[in-house]
Amino acid sequence: MDPTAKLSIDDQTYELPLLTGTEGTRAIDIGKLQRTTGCITLDEGYPNTGSTKSAITFLDGEKGILRYRGYPVEVIAERCDFTETAYLLIFGDLPTAEQLEEFRTSIRVHTLLHEGMKRIFAGFPPDAQPMAILSSVVSALAIYCKDSLDSRSEEMRELSMYRMLAKMPTIAAFGYKQSIGQPFIYPENHLTYCQNFLHMMFAVPSERYQMDPDFVDALNLLLILQADHSQNCSTSAVRMVGSSNVNLFSAIASGICALWGEWHGGANEACINMLEMIQADGRNLKKYVDLAKDKTKEFRLMGFGHRVYKNYDPRATIIKKFAHKLLKKHGQRDPLFDLAQELEEVALTDPYFIERKLYPNVDFYSGIIYRLMNIPKNMFTVLFALGRLPGWIAHWREMHQSPTKAIHRPMDLYVGHTLREFVPLIERTAKG
Ligand code: CMC
Repeated sequence: MDPTAKLSIDDQTYELPLLTGTEGTRAIDIGKLQRTTGCITLDEGYPNTGSTKSAITFLDGEKGILRYRGYPVEVIAERCDFTETAYLLIFGDLPTAEQLEEFRTSIRVHTLLHEGMKRIFAGFPPDAQPMAILSSVVSALAIYCKDSLDSRSEEMRELSMYRMLAKMPTIAAFGYKQSIGQPFIYPENHLTYCQNFLHMMFAVPSERYQMDPDFVDALNLLLILQADHSQNCSTSAVRMVGSSNVNLFSAIASGICALWGEWHGGANEACINMLEMIQADGRNLKKYVDLAKDKTKEFRLMGFGHRVYKNYDPRATIIKKFAHKLLKKHGQRDPLFDLAQELEEVALTDPYFIERKLYPNVDFYSGIIYRLMNIPKNMFTVLFALGRLPGWIAHWREMHQSPTKAIHRPMDLYVGHTLREFVPLIERTAKG
């Protein structure tokens, strides 16, 4: 007999299917709940809700485990580059050498933007926020790539996916060049994905650009670590928006917007801002830890805490170690790195953080590496978006291939007025 969960409402008992995932996660299937019981569930922020079945990324927040398609993130980070990781996430298995080369070529041929798109960038003011530029221009791809908009067509889905992967670094770099008044640097397709991005960001037509191979490695690592994280806010946004059958570009633009917020991908920039503030305020760590604990204040330790991880975020462990290595190799010290480590120590011995199981997350140390690479602070979240793109695409593709695909349309528990009588404008009085 298939396992069930029993639910009693009033004097009736209902049996609900109990499902078990491949890693032992148990889920009560409430797919027929409203039809059979008349009730809906209420789960604000969805901490208890599985929105879909997925075979892409496994997370165990208590043990601090993260696996892409079954492979530990630590192994992928050490053995793969970013495009190989993207292939794994999107197609489900590690590629053969030929498959990987074919994948890279399919991306490479789409790196240019329509020349008309340069006028979009020109219209933005110099202080425009890079995440707003990125989401706007990605959204505009739906205007320029009209022959790959039908998400019900497997062929168009594939074409839009390659275009998205190819054009996003170009858009990100052009946005940056526009903001600093430098000419756009076109992609050079003999370069790797990460090399090409650094080239478009930092080369200028008047000088030869010497690329630091350590920075290419650093970028590969950070993008890999950010590549997927199951049903996080931005991925859920991509799936939600994509579920209406809108094109990939529009769905990804919504993911970029969701990522921008400082409780999500915006935390990497917010974390460096916070460290700079603490540094400028005499390195008074206790003051800021106390502030983060004060429930009357909005302030939180940026780069700390996670909805799923109740242990050290495995990505933060890798990034911290790499930051040490990179700084040492470059013979540099970053006072903000020292400060971040001291802050971590103070927080992790404080009962408030211990009781709530709040640890450094992926955003706590990533900015330290980006600073060393001369990536400006307001581009940190743009880089997170570049990293998360394969994950967004993998989830969008998985959703479209699912036989149980449905438009995402949650309910609410209505707590507003019951039926009211309409009052004509002339008879209305303001409520005191
Ligand atoms: N500083 C101080 N207190 C915190 C923090 C923090 N960074 N994070 C959580 N708490 C407290 C929170 O106030 C609450 O306390 P109480 O139980 O007394 O009300 C408790 O810990 C549980 O927090 P929550 O808000 O219910 O947890 P959540 O799962 O809804 O939020 C989070 C997760 C990531 C939004 C939150 O931890 C946070 O705001 N962190 C800072 C922003 C950040 O670093 N975001 C990046 C997340 S990882 C990468 C990504 O997803 O993009």
